[in-house]
Amino acid sequence: MGSRIVLGIESSCDETGAGLVRDGRLLGHGLASSMDEHARFGGVVPEIAARAHVHALRPVIQRALDTAGLRMSDIGAVAVTTGPGLSGALQVGLAGAKAVAYALGVPLHGVHHLAGHVAADTLEHGPLPEPCMVLIVSGGHTSLLLVRDLARDPIAHLGDTLDDAAGECFDKVARVFGLPYPGGPAIQRAARTGDPRAVPFPRPLPGSYDFSFSGLKTAAARWAEGHTGRDLPVADGAASLQEAVADVLTRKAVAACVEHGVGTLIVVGGVAANSRVRALAEERCRAAGIALRVPPPGLCTDNGAMIAAVGDLLVRAGAAPAPLDLSIDPSAPLEYAALHPAASLAGAAR
Ligand code: KG4
Ligand code: ZN
Repeated sequence: MGSRIVLGIESSCDETGAGLVRDGRLLGHGLASSMDEHARFGGVVPEIAARAHVHALRPVIQRALDTAGLRMSDIGAVAVTTGPGLSGALQVGLAGAKAVAYALGVPLHGVHHLAGHVAADTLEHGPLPEPCMVLIVSGGHTSLLLVRDLARDPIAHLGDTLDDAAGECFDKVARVFGLPYPGGPAIQRAARTGDPRAVPFPRPLPGSYDFSFSGLKTAAARWAEGHTGRDLPVADGAASLQEAVADVLTRKAVAACVEHGVGTLIVVGGVAANSRVRALAEERCRAAGIALRVPPPGLCTDNGAMIAAVGDLLVRAGAAPAPLDLSIDPSAPLEYAALHPAASLAGAAR
């Protein structure tokens, strides 16, 4: 039997994404964002995001098909993010995915959003080496993971954030600095002309693989408050904050690789688009003799191709499809790449 073309649908936050993948290759994708509609509120408004997904989903799927030169009837399986994420937003993607799977009579797979971030890298750099160390840094999560077969094996967490995620820290501090949403790219832009040594921000939890960014966020806010009435040297603050985040992330990731004898580090998620995080990871991996893989920036932030990539891995691994009464799980912990009852039962039986 020939392999299937997998349609992946992502709608967990403010990005509506559709991607088409077969045999680890990206065939086409479409993306829409409601980011601009949230900007004046300084963060994602769940109802606005959900409504935007309703409008964007069909055109985004059509764009994916058009760029791939394919038709709806070419789709052989559907994968969709069922969590974690905003519940209203997830519901829209899941409803659309069910409709397509039911209409075409093809299997449906529920996918963990963060597994999508991991799989994104396979579209650029090929199959994941086993095992590999994965640093996920997104707007909602910061985790250090030991990954084996993404489609079959449980994902081992070496460390997680105890409070704010790295992206959340950028987003919140950007607000205090008077920079626009989303904060990460704005901090990166502002940092360009700043001195990364200007402000001695803390490096929390040394010696642990867990992360904590709320102290850093508070330190940055205090530093900004200390300038009331005077001009805030935003570039220096941004550069120093970016340096602290990049330092903590890459130091722990490389130490974990060394301790566990893992030869490849993969850095994924929205914050992996950050130029300083990328440069420092490269520098430290080279010094430690570790191979580094980071997806291109467009595959680091949320997209549908990464969900299709997980679906493609599940299909090729012969994973059982999800039932059509599959539901969302807005706070799903990352245990397996697949996220539905059959998959978790299989996991429990191990
Ligand atoms: O993975 P992602 O697109 O969505 C989530 O799953 O959360 O990550 C979004 C996060 C936001 O916090 C955003 O500020 C951050 O990634 N981000 C960046 C950059 N681009 C996006 N942070 C630092 N530098 C960037 N260039
Ligand atoms: Zn994400």
